[in-house]
Amino acid sequence: MSFKTSKVVVVGAGNVGANTAYSIINQGICGEVVLIDVNKEKAYAEALDMQHAMYFLNRNINIHAGDYGECKDADIVIITAAAPMPKDSNSRLEMLAPSMNIIKSIVTSVMESGFNGIFIVVSNPVDIMTYYVQKLSKLPANHVIGSGTALDTARVCCKLAQTYDLDAKSVEAFVIGEHGDTETMAWESATIGGKHLADVLSDNSERSSDITKEKLLDWSKKSGWEIFTRKGNTCYGIAASTTAIVKSILFNENRILPVSVKLNGEYGIKDLYFSVPTILNADGAKEIVEIRLRDEEAKELAHSAEVIRSFYKDLNI
Ligand code: 2OP
Repeated sequence: MSFKTSKVVVVGAGNVGANTAYSIINQGICGEVVLIDVNKEKAYAEALDMQHAMYFLNRNINIHAGDYGECKDADIVIITAAAPMPKDSNSRLEMLAPSMNIIKSIVTSVMESGFNGIFIVVSNPVDIMTYYVQKLSKLPANHVIGSGTALDTARVCCKLAQTYDLDAKSVEAFVIGEHGDTETMAWESATIGGKHLADVLSDNSERSSDITKEKLLDWSKKSGWEIFTRKGNTCYGIAASTTAIVKSILFNENRILPVSVKLNGEYGIKDLYFSVPTILNADGAKEIVEIRLRDEEAKELAHSAEVIRSFYKDLNI
């Protein structure tokens, strides 16, 4: 697979799907992007709008609307479609019941095309939906990946970077577990420019008053809602994080990102999907990286796993 000829299908042409497609063509990371939506007019219009942007973008990418037959030779299918999030919602887990049948219908249609590539699941609750997609598709677990806490990690790294006037790419602080209320942070392994976060805090005490693990996690958990309650969705951060996952796969980068993958005993957790640092390359989720956790973090991760696992019975698979 060469990224120049690779094909990415985005299912769902709403805010998340359309911005993910635009992020992909803006970064020029594949040869073809297909938008699929139950509202064919919406998919057509979003694709046509992006075709006009192509005149100004770095690489000429074939972007168009299409149907599920386009998945047959796709390298990656990104699932962003879901039921509308209720305005008064305060948990992504509430999306499971209303979105399950949508996801099942999408996976059935994609697999009927003969798709044999890699699924990237974005639809919330993403960890449970990624497990669901893997079970329904029966694709190898390393070929079904959820966007997970890549975005949460970016949010925490951005917060730390802003605190110390740094580039967020110089911060490494993984948020792991559920993309949601039970997520935790690998504080023990967090560094800024290779310097342990605890040392950065103690060396910059006046700037660090607002930086504790609890406050950073609170910031991570609240960020999505800060945006959602004001504009009714979030899209740019999730689009960019999903694009980074796609790029590591299509370019065979072996980048380590915290994404929702199937654990088979790593971190003491089995047969469950949620986010841990994972090496991503042309074969999808290549390997889980077990970073050092404090005892409390290991316990928080185990709790997050049990919360997620408690919803598996509702999937009826
Ligand atoms: C977020 O946190 C969409 O769940 C995603 O913005």
